[in-house]
Amino acid sequence: MYLELLAIFLATVFAWDYLRNRRHNKMYAAAGIRGPRSYPLVGNAPMMINESPKTIFNLQDRLIAEFGKNIRIQMMGERGFMTADPKMIEAIMSSQQTIQKNNLYGLLVNWLGDGLLLSKGKKWFRRRKIITPAFHFKILEDFVEVFDQQSAIMAQQLYDRADGKTVINMFPVACLCAMDIIAETAMGVKINAQLQPQFSYVQSVTTASSMLAERFMNPLQRIESWMKILYPKLTAKLNASVKNMHDFTNSVITERRELLQKSIADGGDPDAALLNDVGQKRRLALLDVLLKSTIDGAPLSNSDIREEVDTFMFEGHDTTTSSIAYTCYLLARHPEVQARVFQEVRDVLGDDKSTPVTMQLLGELKYLECVIKESLRLFPSVPIIGRYLTQDTLLDGKLIPADSNVMILIYHAQRDPDYFPDPEKFIPDRFSMERKGEINPFAYTPFSAGARNCIGQKFAMLEMKSTISKMVRHFELLPLGEEVQPVMNLILRSSTGINCGLKPRVY
Ligand code: HEM
Repeated sequence: MYLELLAIFLATVFAWDYLRNRRHNKMYAAAGIRGPRSYPLVGNAPMMINESPKTIFNLQDRLIAEFGKNIRIQMMGERGFMTADPKMIEAIMSSQQTIQKNNLYGLLVNWLGDGLLLSKGKKWFRRRKIITPAFHFKILEDFVEVFDQQSAIMAQQLYDRADGKTVINMFPVACLCAMDIIAETAMGVKINAQLQPQFSYVQSVTTASSMLAERFMNPLQRIESWMKILYPKLTAKLNASVKNMHDFTNSVITERRELLQKSIADGGDPDAALLNDVGQKRRLALLDVLLKSTIDGAPLSNSDIREEVDTFMFEGHDTTTSSIAYTCYLLARHPEVQARVFQEVRDVLGDDKSTPVTMQLLGELKYLECVIKESLRLFPSVPIIGRYLTQDTLLDGKLIPADSNVMILIYHAQRDPDYFPDPEKFIPDRFSMERKGEINPFAYTPFSAGARNCIGQKFAMLEMKSTISKMVRHFELLPLGEEVQPVMNLILRSSTGINCGLKPRVY
């Protein structure tokens, strides 16, 4: 009796699975998008059994070699495809129908709420419109001072280990500097992460970022309810970090809002709030722009602002950290490139290491910009992004069914030999002015492209130029330590560290 019931149950489940996937199967077959063998209910999950964050790029390499640049994937009830094809990437990034994120991003909701990275539809559109002016070049110009001061602290702190022998993992070093920078520019507060890494807010950001990275790659930690049951201690730790970060952001927002309201009440001039005690102009923080914004005539609430500020904190520190660390690594291993960067930095910034950089001077560091772009090609901080299709959508001549998850393989597209000759080689001159127009803009998308591109990309480029030029002004970067082993943990990290050695420069 029980066996019969079990047989009926299984037959029903398999039939449901078959019927549920029938339309998808037909449409993907008609679109010519193939993929690895899929099993009832679990899809391609068995393929992942021996995989880890370290091997995921190799797996994707093998899938591309076998099935081409568009690969059909089904995983535990989720359906869709991966693409490393610039023509398909162009179709996705240029379409208004494909701007919704997929549930890969769900892990971030507790921390970031429905901020710009995760929001969709009308909410995303309106928020994007009011946040865009926060990245106006006039505001960024003021931030360069922060980039310069914080990277000076980074360099100063590295002298202790700059003996030409010690292996330094640049990821944690750059991470604290990037955290200081984003806190001061987004919230207008100094958190002194580099000088006091034990400060509770800094600890919470570090803990939450690394725990989310772990959850991202661990299937048992992915699903919220499983996480709670199987890892109660980790769940409590993560929740405590998120609460601590929210409390901190809330207190900063409340304080800045009170300041703003008080000055309106006193003199009616909201900009007076931006004067400090001795009447000097206070630097505008991204949060101030949000405090002064309205949607349909109504100001944003504290929780509206908090989700955006938390999004800046998240998007604006790990990404730049990865890129700064990988660029230092590449410079250390390419002395001829480093020598050119050093010469340019000396020519533009002069021989006094303490002369502050400005936006205009950073603009003149053209070769350094090529170096950073090439570093982001080989090691994109965001190696994969995801989208979700809510309706049948024609993309690059292929009709893709609704309820499809799409994964854009930025890492692979940027190493495609059809678009980049000698793709594994570090050749910054690919991005030189003389070769302008040679690179397909959808084969190279470290900041994504189209409506949902990175709103912080100019900010990021200025920050990276400031920190890396500072490193090169102070130190010769040496090829010490293990080679990198890129791993995809939310952003691009390396399981072996991102190492180099340092020797003070005398000139
Ligand atoms: C090297 C540094 C950076 C890289 C490589 C990078 C890359 C990206 C990419 C690929 C996206 C698209 C994500 C997706 O579609 O899911 C994105 C979105 C975003 N980035 Fe960045 N980013 C960097 C730095 C920053 C900084 C410094 C900030 C803020 C200060 C920032 C804020 C954002 C925000 C708010 C979004 C969401 C935009 C939207 O959906 O409208 N990013 N970034």
